Amino acid sequence: MTLLQVRDLATHFFTRDGVAKAVDGVSFSLDRGEILGLVGESGSGKSVTGFSLIGLVDPPGKVVSGQILFDGADLVAAGEATLRRLRGKRIAMIFQDPMMTLNPVLRVDTQMIETVLAHAPMSRQAARERCRAALAAVGISSPDERLESYPHQFSGGMRQRVAIAIALLHEPDLIIADEPTTALDVTIQAQILSEVQALCARSGTALIWITHDLAVVSGLADRLAVMYAGRIIETGDTAEVIARPLHPYTRGLIDSVPQGKRHGAPLAQIPGMTPSLLRLPEGCKFRPRCPRADAACLVEPALAELLPGRRARCVHPYLEAAEEALAASC
Ligand SMILES: Nc1ncnc2c1ncn2[C@@H]1O[C@H](COP(=O)(O)OP(=O)(O)OP(=O)(O)O)[C@@H](O)[C@H]1O
Ligand code: SF4
Ligand SMILES: [Mg+2]
Repeated sequence: MTLLQVRDLATHFFTRDGVAKAVDGVSFSLDRGEILGLVGESGSGKSVTGFSLIGLVDPPGKVVSGQILFDGADLVAAGEATLRRLRGKRIAMIFQDPMMTLNPVLRVDTQMIETVLAHAPMSRQAARERCRAALAAVGISSPDERLESYPHQFSGGMRQRVAIAIALLHEPDLIIADEPTTALDVTIQAQILSEVQALCARSGTALIWITHDLAVVSGLADRLAVMYAGRIIETGDTAEVIARPLHPYTRGLIDSVPQGKRHGAPLAQIPGMTPSLLRLPEGCKFRPRCPRADAACLVEPALAELLPGRRARCVHPYLEAAEEALAASC
């Protein structure tokens, strides 16, 4: 059942040098309990998409058009009071830096209990019990003791677990996680990923996991949306996209992930740089970096369904391998 439907979302930054179209016609949907990986290089518009969904884009940025239908209600048209009611309770955000969530001068119990009471009237004792359970659920041992600590008394990984526990306090319908494990070492990262996955499955929470690291989402997300220059350029089932990408940019991203079986071989790279949003090329925005580019790419392609459940924005997609695999599976 669809929880979130984003239609033709556009968020622009009105800077002195010009208008940066950070999100330019983004559409996707998310079912209840589904995990979507939003991936792409730095500057592709992942975070701005996440912030747009919960109305946290600050000037000079502004959502200029589109719809964000959350459980049927359009959040673009909603006022700040409605958004404030939804934030934390039905939609939660986890940031790369847990200190964007945590207050350094307050004990963890003070801030967690306040968060509970802000949206759910109950006794302080009941709120404390809910906080204790949330800390235990993200793998924090001795939660009673840890509730009485200040954020600086936790390691980076533990601080991020506390921030995740806060996001889960109200069992929200949707969590938007913006690179929450990027700063953590790989073992902690793997633990947190599997715990979040299990928690979402248990509570039916939908999750948008934003990352530049395809390896991170490949084992976590049900579906992928790949962003480039403010647009989604490919979407589909995670396993299918990773095994047989349709878009040359997605293929470039996958080929540039280090893999054991290619040990010793030079690491593939996508040539060139992410374009400046103020000076985008004509036609397909990936054209100057694309090995398949030709004159047909001077007209920007739409995000089209090229195979069942597989969409890509490309006039020369890698369809052969995907079609062969589809035929073999029938
Ligand atoms: N405050 C701002 N002022 C002007 N432009 C901005 C601002 N914030 C973002 N942008 C523009 O939006 C683009 C997309 O930014 P965004 O933070 O969404 O990228 P990202 O995909 O999350 O990258 P990263 O992986 O580095 O976090 C930026 O490249 C920039 O052009
Ligand atoms: S439309 Fe053309 S330039 Fe763009 S990704 Fe496809 S082949 Fe490459
Ligand atoms: Mg970002």
